[in-house]
Amino acid sequence: MADIIAASRRWNNASSLTGALIFTGEYFAHYIEGDEKAIDQLKLKIRRDPRHTDIVTLSEGPISQRRFARWAIAYAGASQYVAQAIALPLREIDRPGKSGVNKLLRLMDEFVSQDYSHA
Ligand SMILES: Cc1cc2nc3c(=O)[nH]c(=O)nc-3n(C[C@H](O)[C@H](O)[C@H](O)COP(=O)(O)O)c2cc1C
Repeated sequence: MADIIAASRRWNNASSLTGALIFTGEYFAHYIEGDEKAIDQLKLKIRRDPRHTDIVTLSEGPISQRRFARWAIAYAGASQYVAQAIALPLREIDRPGKSGVNKLLRLMDEFVSQDYSHA
């Protein structure tokens, strides 16, 4: 994780990408915001990375303002609470509404506002 965070901080800063990453020990959930081309480029890099598999995009689209503007990659590590928060949107993948994604994002907001993470 230290390697991933260090590389991400460098690249994301250079590409004006911001966002948050949480990890349960089994699953990652990653929220990325920035220029569409920069995001597409990063998605290619992440897809090539053998350190994880079965990548799913839960939600994507334009936003009016950044949610994690101060964070190249806010990071929160494993906890049971985080594991449950990730399981919810994964169960909802084929259902409309996707309230699980919003819950997951609010959890990321919480970590950032409580300064559990390191930008
Ligand atoms: C869950 C996960 C999230 C990642 N997030 C980022 C990221 O936000 N920015 C980044 O530059 N690399 C990220 N990486 C690392 C990339 O997958 C890749 O190893 C790195 O960008 C170097 O890519 P390259 O060797 O193709 O240039 C992430 C890797 C994992 C497993």
